[in-house]
Amino acid sequence: MNDAKERLPGHIAIIMDGNGTWAKKRGLPRNFGHRKGVQTLINTVKYCQQIGIEYLTVFAFSTENWSRPKEEVDYLMKLPEQFLESYRQTMRDNGVKLRVIGRKDNLGEKLLQKIIEVERETMNNSNINFTIAFNYGGKDEILNATKHIAMALKEDKIKLNDINEKLFYDYLYTKDLPVVDLLIRTSNQIRISNFLLWQIAYSELYFTDVLWPDFRRRDLDKAIDEYKNRNRRFGGLK
Ligand code: FPP
Repeated sequence: MNDAKERLPGHIAIIMDGNGTWAKKRGLPRNFGHRKGVQTLINTVKYCQQIGIEYLTVFAFSTENWSRPKEEVDYLMKLPEQFLESYRQTMRDNGVKLRVIGRKDNLGEKLLQKIIEVERETMNNSNINFTIAFNYGGKDEILNATKHIAMALKEDKIKLNDINEKLFYDYLYTKDLPVVDLLIRTSNQIRISNFLLWQIAYSELYFTDVLWPDFRRRDLDKAIDEYKNRNRRFGGLK
């Protein structure tokens, strides 16, 4: 592996913010912004794959997004199904391994079925690990892990002293993904918004005022260039 490749972030996570603002600026309904955001997402997966990013995880719907107007929630709920259907062949052909993480208990049956199908179809792909956080909340994920660990303890499957960071990680939705190297948020909001809380403990954070539908290859290049120039210390001195 050459130097440049070594310094690439292995795992990029993105908070795709600014769809609504993008639409509003053009006098369009917010949902048009989300639709355009899907196109940006498809281009971003493709580009990440081209440059050798191994893991890409994006925030598509948070456990808090349910409080948006019903019309918008309905649209956002329909998006993944459409997305998975129209993009599944491309994922199969291009070696994209898809995962969907988040709460599944209050999602529609059709969507769940589609997620299972596409995850199964792409499970042996290895060009890029593409993960959609949908109906996801970082605090919810940590609570869910805690409950399952408590259950395992109660059922004598683990001992109190077995509980450490490594074991905890195995109970997170992201157990098969590495921690995040670079977290990008678009649309000039300097917040984490309950995304991947455990996994970003030592991530480099990058904020840009570009709205998600306008996010292009050069914007990702800029984020990665800045990442390469950061001095990651993980709490140490070097
Ligand atoms: C934030 O923009 C974006 C979202 C809540 C949804 C993100 C979804 C996509 C980009 C589509 C991809 C989805 C799937 C399922 C593949 P915002 O509406 O909060 O924008 P604003 O802050 O400008 O109002």
